Amino acid sequence: MIISPKDILNDAKKTGYAVPAFNYYNLDVLFAVLEAAEEEQAPVICQPYTAYYPFLHYEVIGNASLEAIRTAKTAAYLHLDHATDHDIIMRAIANGFTSVMCDGSALSIDENIALTKSVVDVAKPLGIYTEAEIGRIFRVGVDDCSDDIDETARVEDCVRLVQETGVDSLAPAVGTAHGVYTKPPKINFGRIRELVQAVDVPLVLHGGSGTPDEMIRYAIECGISKINVGTELKYMWSRSMRKMLDKGEKEPRIISAYAREQVKQVAKDKLRLFGASGKAPKLIREAGEKLFTK
Ligand code: 13P
Repeated sequence: MIISPKDILNDAKKTGYAVPAFNYYNLDVLFAVLEAAEEEQAPVICQPYTAYYPFLHYEVIGNASLEAIRTAKTAAYLHLDHATDHDIIMRAIANGFTSVMCDGSALSIDENIALTKSVVDVAKPLGIYTEAEIGRIFRVGVDDCSDDIDETARVEDCVRLVQETGVDSLAPAVGTAHGVYTKPPKINFGRIRELVQAVDVPLVLHGGSGTPDEMIRYAIECGISKINVGTELKYMWSRSMRKMLDKGEKEPRIISAYAREQVKQVAKDKLRLFGASGKAPKLIREAGEKLFTK
């Protein structure tokens, strides 16, 4: 069922776990992550990358995702990941997305603030949750990820972005990258701790795929409340499809069922690692109590 993003992330922040936000690319992956979360009784965030929103026909994937989340027996919500375009964000809001990311990280701090504020000003009165990004989170294999380039988010910029926009959550660059690492990331855990003190919104870690488990645990201990994972699910889906096709299987339902099961196992491992397993029943109970005391 859909539970308010604010309630889910505040619970994670308060009680010291992180909610996995899984990128999905088709219905196989969406169903896999929702089934994983149901079986683990864990809260989960379902988030298409913005590039997949038009690719999967905007409202078609938006409405299908909302229905899948509504009928799932766990606490979940729908978030649009990495939107840089104001119009697409407005389209997602009109489509019923419960949360949107406004990624102004490629802009100057002033431009990032202006873009993020223009989104928050629309989203907040409608009860839509927002996420902003700051600093640069690299893409392995696309950007220059050499050690001497430091694009870690600066504390003073983060404070400005949160205070001047009223954004609900923040994804600061702290050393992780999108994609599959060629060497372990160098995460600036000290910066995470400083940001937890400096801003009072939940912090989001991007680039969860391939980040060593002990780094994930420590990042959560330092105060990370939401962790994005995409590439590991995508690769598992592709590998599983290939395996079935190589075996000569021709029935799409059988091929998909196998891929879904494999992706589900990856998602379950993340839910456990992030400490989210077993956290959904309380969130659902509290959401129900709120409804009846209104
Ligand atoms: P990975 O694909 O590296 O897991 O990153 C996902 C992400 O951060 C999406 O915003």
